Amino acid sequence: MYHQKISGDRFTSGEFAQRVAGISTEIDRPVCTYVNRRGQVIRVGVGTPLETQIPPLELPRYGAERLSGIRCIATQLNSEAPKESSLIAIVRQRLDALVLLTLTRSGKVSRGKGATGYAKEAYLVHLMPETDPNLAIEDYCSISPLTSLDVLLQQDFLDLVEGLEAEFEREYVAEQVDKNRDRVIVIGIQTDTRKEQQFLDSLAELERLIDTAGGTVVQTITQNRPQPHPQTVIGKGKVEEIALKVQTLGANLVAFDRELSPAQVRNLETQLGVRVVDRTEVILDIFAQRAQSRAGKLQVELAQLEYMLPRLVGRGEAMSRLGGGIGTRGPGETKLETERRGIQKRLSRLQQEVNQLQAHRSRLRQQRQKKDIATVAIVGYTNAGKSTLINALTNAEVYAADQLFATLDPTTRRLSIVDEVTHQASNILITDTVGFIQELPPSLVDAFRATLEEVTEADALLHVVDLAHPAWESQTRSVMKILGQMPITPGPILLAFNKLDTVDSETLAKAQEEYPLAVFISARKRLGLETLRQKLSELVRYAQTGVVK
Ligand code: GTP
Repeated sequence: MYHQKISGDRFTSGEFAQRVAGISTEIDRPVCTYVNRRGQVIRVGVGTPLETQIPPLELPRYGAERLSGIRCIATQLNSEAPKESSLIAIVRQRLDALVLLTLTRSGKVSRGKGATGYAKEAYLVHLMPETDPNLAIEDYCSISPLTSLDVLLQQDFLDLVEGLEAEFEREYVAEQVDKNRDRVIVIGIQTDTRKEQQFLDSLAELERLIDTAGGTVVQTITQNRPQPHPQTVIGKGKVEEIALKVQTLGANLVAFDRELSPAQVRNLETQLGVRVVDRTEVILDIFAQRAQSRAGKLQVELAQLEYMLPRLVGRGEAMSRLGGGIGTRGPGETKLETERRGIQKRLSRLQQEVNQLQAHRSRLRQQRQKKDIATVAIVGYTNAGKSTLINALTNAEVYAADQLFATLDPTTRRLSIVDEVTHQASNILITDTVGFIQELPPSLVDAFRATLEEVTEADALLHVVDLAHPAWESQTRSVMKILGQMPITPGPILLAFNKLDTVDSETLAKAQEEYPLAVFISARKRLGLETLRQKLSELVRYAQTGVVK
């Protein structure tokens, strides 16, 4: 069969169809042949379209607005309408078309003329330009009535696929799909040990992280499981469901709301055919995009390499996929071994550079301490409004945006405060720090210790909380927890509840009752800032002298 060639603009040739049908009749089993746009047969299999489908990693790469460039000419023993399993096969592989020849169960092979009479009719099935995630599988496919093979042979195949691809393209333009943004499916696994609310918050946070990283979440899928599946985290049925969604929604990335082991990533990528990442990788990606200073960039690279190293082995197949599809199978294990050693070398060099930078920073800090200027580090959950606050307090221009981790590099500003009682002006250095997040990956805590060092070396901390966030309580606690895990105990902490302008009175009363010593402010509306300044100066005085006013 592999020597047969079909003209590029027809679905199939009569001779080819009869031959496939003849073989299928003889062995009494369905047969599938896969043909590329040049009319070459690239795969032949005995079984139904679903049984013979091309594994995701072997499919050529295509954008969400294209088809895979492969059509399937298959036989079926009866003339029943195409089964759902065939539709699944089309969707999963984004086939150009499926021609299902129904067998007559009779026919003959004559010398010189080839096979005739084995198939007279066929179904033609192809994808429809639909990207609504809530449709049933039938809605993504168009199924023709049983058509005479002769009529089908007259039809122009290229007209159909080019027309379809143009429609896919239009659909995407209409939906304003930005091709530069990753289309991401988010997966959450609710295990017995996690509380419902915690699970939902963490999922919502991952969605925001993806948005910040420059991706569009096209769907979020959750599964309840007492325990994650050791090989694939989610169950087999769920993997299939997601593989289908990847195709119908044109997703190119699947993100899991939990840590994945290197083997799990590998298994999932093989079955889903797109890149699979976990929460840590998303965070690392954001950090990589955001790092500005040399120190920041160094640390991100360090964290990324540390994360990658154990995940390199056996990733040959998946990694080579990044370079292209069939025919570009890339680095084998040997190449990876060399790469591993290279990475290890680079890791230790980076580590050295980071250490040097740290030494440099600590000298700078010593100088500051000599000048006897008190320092305050602002900490808080990501997006709490730290940068906005530092801008409001000091009229500085620190990048503030409604995104997670808008700030990565510590910024230090001078703040002058005139004491209410003594009327003496004093200066405080105030430093913005990286935002905190629940389950901050350990490699990141390490990598960002330079930023966090500002925290341990500051005279006092200002902990900003976004009171308008529904999860403000757990966010406050997780920041406290991370602070509690610091090697050096940080100085006294002043709690400031921010975004007062959008907080309802009930929440406000609750926070006031629970944290009577806290300050309530709105950085954006500049409310309560004078009180904050006074409290800060008291705090610093207390930190330096141990005396409360
Ligand atoms: P990271 O850099 O991610 O750690 O964030 P951050 O804590 O520095 O937060 P940032 O200052 O970037 O502010 C986050 C968002 O909250 C921005 O959209 C701000 O405009 C908004 N915001 C800050 N303060 C207030 C406030 O008092 N009220 C309201 N409504 N929004 C605020």
